[in-house]
Amino acid sequence: MEATLEKTRELDAAFHMPTYARKPVMFVRGNGMRLYDDAGKEYLDFVAGIGAVNLGHAHPAVAKAVAEQMNKLVQVSNLFYVEHRDELAEVLVGLLGGGRKVFFANSGAEANEGAIKLARKWGKARRGEKCVGVVTAEKSFHGRTLATLAATGQPSKQEVFEPLTPGFTHVPLNDIDALDAAVTAETCAVMLEPIQGEGGVFPATPGYLADVERLCRERDVLLILDEVQTGFFRTGAAFAHQREEYRADPDVVTCAKAMANGLPIGGVVAKDGVANEFAPGDHGSTFAGGPVVCSAALATVGALIGEDLGGNAERTGEYLKVKLNEMAADTQQIDEIRGTGLMLAVQFGQPRAQEIAAAGLERGLVLNAIGPHILRFLPPLVCGKAEADALLESLHAILYETATC
Ligand SMILES: Cc1ncc(COP(=O)(O)O)c(C=O)c1O
Repeated sequence: MEATLEKTRELDAAFHMPTYARKPVMFVRGNGMRLYDDAGKEYLDFVAGIGAVNLGHAHPAVAKAVAEQMNKLVQVSNLFYVEHRDELAEVLVGLLGGGRKVFFANSGAEANEGAIKLARKWGKARRGEKCVGVVTAEKSFHGRTLATLAATGQPSKQEVFEPLTPGFTHVPLNDIDALDAAVTAETCAVMLEPIQGEGGVFPATPGYLADVERLCRERDVLLILDEVQTGFFRTGAAFAHQREEYRADPDVVTCAKAMANGLPIGGVVAKDGVANEFAPGDHGSTFAGGPVVCSAALATVGALIGEDLGGNAERTGEYLKVKLNEMAADTQQIDEIRGTGLMLAVQFGQPRAQEIAAAGLERGLVLNAIGPHILRFLPPLVCGKAEADALLESLHAILYETATC
């Protein structure tokens, strides 16, 4: 018997820890930008599994790669060589510009944990036992494990889990003087998202990351860029820091989310001089870098490049931004449009984001409200003008239908 939404909700309430307030829909199938629920209703997906399905749902190249590898070999651990792992590492290093080495993880938080451990070991070797401090940004999000939660600059997510892992300080994004004051002889790294995702889609201002890189060089501190959400062509470029307005050269880049189009994998990519701080036994994972997920990632990156989805993200993102700005002028309900490529957000004057996302779901739009005022758009990068127009039309109608005055 097939699961129904009603039965699944009962099981969820009875047996699942209540960490998520799920929306009242159960998706059973997807294709490109489209999702289908258990009753066969079609939706346009502007969430993409929280920015993880950049190629769109059920991409045939990924399905084929996974099926082939599943039938061949799934798991032997990192104690042995396997197919695809090192080929994928070479591809990742190629995307980031050479002279680097990779550690594979299973998620974004795990990738950031790996980067923090690497930076601490590098710092201690450089300036002694106390050189373990990491400076991150207010409103940042780096994960929910204990160290990455401490790195995250959102007190509301941290307070109930105190005491936090020590060694993290937070400064406002885009304030180079505050960063300058926060970096001390005990700092081993500065860790930033080029565009803060979970915090509300707040971008680094043009030139800021280059200034941060200069400061890191002057003070002999590592620059870690968390590209978990911004990576894999989400903003047009392979990684956001490669965009013209940023042009930074980080020592360490972390990535995850879209690397295998929705399968769990993360990566820490560090310059050789930093990467070589890790020695056998320093870090590890049972599953990470397994042949199934690595073959999926190779297929994913190949298709992202082959289908020029970075170019499409840039074009569709620009189009959406222009149209959303027109909508803001027309409706007088939107305070700000932020973001780059297909990582965009609309900030409402009134706390209406949840209500609008719920109305969107009724109309067959999958939308993500971050808090009461912000609606974030992270569609698969196959999103074209037609899908963007469908979003704009529905959003316009919802704004008028739900207007309070
Ligand atoms: C920038 C950033 N870093 C880290 C993470 C954590 O990734 P994961 O949920 O895969 O652990 C996220 C997740 O949203 C993220 O956006």
